[in-house]
Amino acid sequence: MPRTAPATSPLDERLAEVLASDPEAMADPFAVWHDLLERGPVHRLGPRALVPRYRDVRRLLRNKTTLSNRAFIEGSQAEAIFAALTPEQQRAHLDVSEFESHYVSRNDGDAHTRLRSIAHRAFTPRRIAAMEATVRRYTEELVEELTREEVPDIIDTLAYRLPLLVITEMLDVPHDDHERIHRWSNALARNRGADDPRALMTAHTAIGEFRRYVEDELLPSKREAPPDTDLVAGLMDAEQGDRLTPDELAAMFVILLFAGHETTTNLIGNGLLALLQHRDQWQRLCDDPSLAPTAVEELLRFVSPVQWLLRVALEDIELDGARLERGETVFLLIAAANRDPEIFDRPDVLDLTRPNARDHIGFGFGPHFCIGNVLARLEGAAVLEALARRFPAMTLATDRLTWRGNAKLRALAALPVHLEGRI
Ligand code: HEM
Repeated sequence: MPRTAPATSPLDERLAEVLASDPEAMADPFAVWHDLLERGPVHRLGPRALVPRYRDVRRLLRNKTTLSNRAFIEGSQAEAIFAALTPEQQRAHLDVSEFESHYVSRNDGDAHTRLRSIAHRAFTPRRIAAMEATVRRYTEELVEELTREEVPDIIDTLAYRLPLLVITEMLDVPHDDHERIHRWSNALARNRGADDPRALMTAHTAIGEFRRYVEDELLPSKREAPPDTDLVAGLMDAEQGDRLTPDELAAMFVILLFAGHETTTNLIGNGLLALLQHRDQWQRLCDDPSLAPTAVEELLRFVSPVQWLLRVALEDIELDGARLERGETVFLLIAAANRDPEIFDRPDVLDLTRPNARDHIGFGFGPHFCIGNVLARLEGAAVLEALARRFPAMTLATDRLTWRGNAKLRALAALPVHLEGRI
């Protein structure tokens, strides 16, 4: 039976607010992660077991057999969520889950290996490196656009548009379709886990539209006139060779379009916010913009654009004196692990020259390690370098920031700035 005990301690109350994506709590989940790190290897809240420590999270991420990526549909939390839905919501959830079950990230074992190798073939680091000029060109164009606004919003003008322009170009998606894709992606990002019925129903509608778009518009247009794009050709070939079913191909487009922009938007948005809030580090970057790639590593550690990953325990697992039970939903708290003092000296300090910043697990670890990490790093560094070169006097233009979406992917609703500092 799923555990459904209500939150009892003050820490549990704060944790419950973060997990429920309460906008106030999302402003600073790190204090909660800090307290969890001090509590030991496993903390339980309702139908969830949360694992905060770096060495445990890494060990569990590496393991291919004792944990499953099917936590969206199986395990204690998924059962508890499902039981609380109305019949109509349950149908929507099953529908969404069926489609999402084709995502490479939601598979285990051989099925995962097969989907990953197809995605990887289309997404080699060499191919992504060849995108560098495109990334820089788009960055320059968007940074120029910032100067046309009185109080530009970094999220709207730059952080969401750049990754979307790049991934849609790689997948050869028409520019006119970008707004629709952004809307669908947002709806999917908000749903993550179906614990909010409204977000679930919006995601259900979005996934139906997204799927019809990929199947009825995007793919037929490509079949008629195969574009001269290696990435698309790689995915289409896999289909011809009967290695991807049409549903899998549609899901591959969706996951690449989705994973390829939502997370990077948050790296850029939350990362720049952290820099502007730590003026000495912003100054350091402005003094030497070539620090941008190093800064990206420290920001991936410091802000953790993906705050946690979900797994289901397939068997009982011993964890340093504690135990995860078979069937439990396990929260691998990347954001806590990335601030574990056992690994990172003074972990709550943003330090662009931290020697071991690259040890962060912001892109995960092990068999599901992020396929897009090279691209995301490229985009993050291009943006930071361009902003630091052009607008060293940049300041925040608000002291009231709003967080939206799901706390797993903490997203700023807007990041208004004064490019030339306060007047
Ligand atoms: C800052 C940006 C990004 C962050 C923080 C990030 C983070 C992650 C993390 C933590 C995982 C591991 C998931 C798991 O273990 O369950 C992952 C997997 C994945 N990422 Fe990223 N990602 C980013 C950008 C991208 C980009 C740009 C793409 C593609 C264009 C991408 C595509 C993927 C895919 C397809 C997977 C699934 C891999 C698998 O399950 O084998 N990501 N990402």
